[in-house]
Amino acid sequence: MEEFARLLAKDISQSKENNVENLARGGNSPYAMYKVEDVLILSHSLGAPSISILLNELIKLMHHAHCNSMTFIRIGQSGGVGVRPGTVIVSEQVFDAQLRNSHEVVVMGKPQLWPTKLNGQLAKDLIDMNMPANDGFEAIAGHTMSTNDFYEGQFRLDGAFADYNEVDKQVFLSQLVEKGIRNIEMESTAFAAITHKANIRSAIVCVTNLNRLNGDTITATKEQLDVWDRRPQKLVSRFIQQNLNIPSSTTKVNFSPNSKTTQ
Ligand code: URA
Repeated sequence: MEEFARLLAKDISQSKENNVENLARGGNSPYAMYKVEDVLILSHSLGAPSISILLNELIKLMHHAHCNSMTFIRIGQSGGVGVRPGTVIVSEQVFDAQLRNSHEVVVMGKPQLWPTKLNGQLAKDLIDMNMPANDGFEAIAGHTMSTNDFYEGQFRLDGAFADYNEVDKQVFLSQLVEKGIRNIEMESTAFAAITHKANIRSAIVCVTNLNRLNGDTITATKEQLDVWDRRPQKLVSRFIQQNLNIPSSTTKVNFSPNSKTTQ
């Protein structure tokens, strides 16, 4: 995220790219936070629990800052399904590990299913930022599957356990291909469900770092992964450059009436 903050500082701000500063340093925060003009850039750790905590705290922060016209975009890595590694996927729909368009939240022992809805127009606008011939990569629309773990949940055969085999895995992968699922990661259900519940327009832009039809282990070099990581950053930075000063329609962020937002 520091790298993205530097890129944005260069692309949209008069400020020097070397001036970006982690606003969350010092405390016990597990996150990093940068601010470039009106853009907040935050990191989170792996999986739905981590991004769910971040989003709750960020939404409260935005409420206290009286922000009511916001766009949240998640950028990150994922495993591709039937696409060339390095392809960028802009998510259309998000499925959980049971192939439901929902994020399961268990509250006081009872499971609730929160719909995972993203903003379709925003996804299209982000894809339009891609100039494949110049960029040297493609950004495509596709559905995303989000799981609670990296190994069994993503039916890998290179973890510590596997009660299934290559044939089982390929059969399931063909179901995913048929459904239009183009990538798999671990945060999108929570991100799509929480932003939708809060009435915040949102999108997900993830690069793929392997093709799961061909294997489970990420074999790309660090240098290659670094190049791929910059691809979602590039698209989102372009989008921000074109849209930063265009006010989007004001929307009211939803909060639960019982939530104590004073803290
Ligand atoms: N992140 C994931 O969750 N899975 C992958 O295969 C790659 C990145």
